[in-house]
Amino acid sequence: MRTDPRRAIFRQPSVFRLPSPIQMIVFDNIHKAFGDNEVLRGFSLEVKEGETVVIIGYSGTGKSVAIKHIVGLLEPDQGRVFVDGQDVNTLTRPELYKLRSKIGYVFQFAALFDSLTIADNVAMGLRKQGLLSEPEILERVREALDLVDLEPDVGSKLPSELSGGMRKRVGIARSIALRPKYLLYDEPTTGLDPVTSAIIDALMVRMQKQLGVTGIVITHDMRSAYTVGTRIAMLYEGTVRQVGSVDEIKQTDDPIVKQFIEGRAELEPAGFGK
Ligand SMILES: Nc1ncnc2c1ncn2[C@@H]1O[C@H](COP(=O)(O)OP(=O)(O)O)[C@@H](O)[C@H]1O
Ligand SMILES: [Mg+2]
Repeated sequence: MRTDPRRAIFRQPSVFRLPSPIQMIVFDNIHKAFGDNEVLRGFSLEVKEGETVVIIGYSGTGKSVAIKHIVGLLEPDQGRVFVDGQDVNTLTRPELYKLRSKIGYVFQFAALFDSLTIADNVAMGLRKQGLLSEPEILERVREALDLVDLEPDVGSKLPSELSGGMRKRVGIARSIALRPKYLLYDEPTTGLDPVTSAIIDALMVRMQKQLGVTGIVITHDMRSAYTVGTRIAMLYEGTVRQVGSVDEIKQTDDPIVKQFIEGRAELEPAGFGK
């Protein structure tokens, strides 16, 4: 401890506090294989409080696999994942459930229950938690629908009465009704038209700016990445190829990253950087 430079600085009377952004989600050298398919091969990434980190990369490179480690849906073969300073894989079941209650997870195919109204779909997680009274739950539902720009009367409709984009917004409302500290979005705009995608992008920005949510967004839509990302990380061959601000990524010299962001995603990446 005596060699810790921060201690040395603390001893200087003019410095009271170091600006130390808190690392809220930390992937530390994650390795994960399925049989002989080595998906993650030393994946490291840090997400600071209040930022939204976008993970980009080709299909099948392990983006979803990576974020499933955050909620303990997958266990690393090697390496550690910290959330809120806790090593996810050392948690007891009750501790893991407590951690999961702070994390909202928006899937690409976020399925709503067809036979339940929109309000009941949004309220489901809250009812399961059993912490709020019914009037409080209904107030949260109204608030969550409002945050995703859906009118309160949408609450009485069934999912089949809504467009795909509206259903996606309901999926986000369902997550934010639980007031999560973290939001993980796995391909939230894939398959949506550009107008609806832009609405979802704006919502993700609002969650960060208005609610202070710390987020990770997986996407291969670069327009979306540039809109919502405080930083962007490219996953390639099991590791983070490059991580940087939007400007740093836009100005990249890395041929692999450049090829990806310039939208030539249909070209085979093989042959570059091997
Ligand atoms: N539960 C699983 N069992 C076996 N293989 C898996 C599992 N989940 C993912 N994979 C494999 O891991 C690789 C990465 O998948 P994924 O993370 O879904 O990619 P993406 O970057 O498109 O999200 C793929 O080859 C996929 O087949
Ligand atoms: Mg995926």
